[in-house]
Amino acid sequence: MTAKILDGTVLAKKLRADFKTRAEALAARGTRPGLAVILVGEDAASQVYVRNKVNACAQAGFHSEKISYPPEVEPGLVLAKIAELNADPEIHGILVQLPLPRHFDSDAVLKAIAPEKDVDGFHAENVGALMQGNPRFIPCTPYGIMKFFADAGIELKGKEAVVLGRSNIVGKPMAMLLMQASATVTICHSQTRDLLFHTRRADILVAALGRARFVTAEMVKPGAVVIDVGINRLPDGKLCGDVDFGPVSEIAAAITPVPGGVGPMTITMLLANTLEAAERGAH
Ligand code: GUN
Repeated sequence: MTAKILDGTVLAKKLRADFKTRAEALAARGTRPGLAVILVGEDAASQVYVRNKVNACAQAGFHSEKISYPPEVEPGLVLAKIAELNADPEIHGILVQLPLPRHFDSDAVLKAIAPEKDVDGFHAENVGALMQGNPRFIPCTPYGIMKFFADAGIELKGKEAVVLGRSNIVGKPMAMLLMQASATVTICHSQTRDLLFHTRRADILVAALGRARFVTAEMVKPGAVVIDVGINRLPDGKLCGDVDFGPVSEIAAAITPVPGGVGPMTITMLLANTLEAAERGAH
């Protein structure tokens, strides 16, 4: 079997065209969706992600602000800026790029964002709402992955879903969404015993562990749907995912490539959340 490629670039384009139309309609009524992105430090990957987020806003007709701080900034200054953005009627979404430098209490920073503007869905109140099955904002990466399933008509009810990785950004919310879609969910992590036992049972396998080509063909059940969240840089400078794409695509039913899979969808769903916040009248 050769897997169907779940193309994030194509799906993102389709969704973004709709968001642009909705943003224009809202702007015509006096509200342009606005996103503020805070970047602390000089992490190269974070700088690329933030630039891509700001560019995506411009292309969709959203207002955006990028606020950058040096790595040694006093956390109080960032908190004061968040308070200012919370009260700014032109800003509907606020995102603090993670990871923050070590001298920051990341939870405290995320909690400082007004929950109605927390377009990442990382505020404890929004995490709780998601867990209760009543989400306000769905974290962007798992939200984008759910869009792949919906777009490709992939049924989740009753399926065995295995998530590799237990991060707050991907693994935990992904598991919650799959469970709410009536899959039977297993979360695996670095201390899991007999990983192969779990992955080979998976009808849906989501790899979000951050290790280049970790998921090999022998770990995958023939006919599985494989979602690759990893973005790893190889010694030769090329990007690759957490999945060994070539051999796995020979046996999976569907697979996301890297690049061009989950990545473009993550930013697309950030636009979705910002637009929703603006449409709800968050200011
Ligand atoms: N760092 C890696 N992924 C993300 C994300 O989705 N949002 C934020 N704010 N930081 C990240």
